[in-house]
Amino acid sequence: MPDQMCRVSDSPPLPMNHDNIKEKIIVREIVMEIEIAPGCRYFPDFLNQAAQQKLLEHIQKALLKAPLFQPTMPKTGKPFSVAMSNMGTLGWVSDKVQGYRYQETHPTTRQNWPPIPSTLLALWDDLTDFSLLPEACLINYYDAKARMGLHRDADEQNLQAPIMSLSLGDKAQFRLGGLKRSDPTRTFFLSSGDILILEPPMRIAYHGIDRVIAGASRLLAQGGRYNLTMRRITPDR
Ligand code: SIN
Ligand code: FE2
Repeated sequence: MPDQMCRVSDSPPLPMNHDNIKEKIIVREIVMEIEIAPGCRYFPDFLNQAAQQKLLEHIQKALLKAPLFQPTMPKTGKPFSVAMSNMGTLGWVSDKVQGYRYQETHPTTRQNWPPIPSTLLALWDDLTDFSLLPEACLINYYDAKARMGLHRDADEQNLQAPIMSLSLGDKAQFRLGGLKRSDPTRTFFLSSGDILILEPPMRIAYHGIDRVIAGASRLLAQGGRYNLTMRRITPDR
């Protein structure tokens, strides 16, 4: 990728100004940040093995309360191949009748979503310059056959807030396009421990997952891939 800018920097601890952040993931001393395009920042191998394991435990705990569900496409009712759940005050859901939306409760248990772990809020605080905390953390689970078609994340009222994505488990081929569906796309792999941030002007760029490479990681006993995306929905709250 010749148009990449590669920056290797120390990662000095940033001031923590949110009272609710108690636990902090200790990451590598040297952090690599690659600017795939303006507004698309890639941090390969950001979370070390221990941090990945810890995050996996947070996900597993959240899924006990808010089990993975199978969203369906608006209008057609076709099931997604990706199973989902959420953490946060709001969660992203989709079904045939009501379509894509955020809501405070799980679609089948009707319970509130479990909270976003403070480690994730701390990571958001460290890696984004955005002053408001995320309200939703979408949990996507991909088995070996799952994929996600090219789409934009545009169901949030706040399109200035970044989207921060963390990957755990098997690596996946990520496809990144531009602001128009017809724009050229490029692909790269997201592996366990990688973080990707989409912020303006790429905040509403088209993106998707072409395929998951089964067996690429041993982090998940059952195989497959978790992707977490943290999102700010409301302008201010
Ligand atoms: C998403 O676009 O919601 C997920 C992307 C990914 O799985 O990396
Ligand atoms: Fe997305």
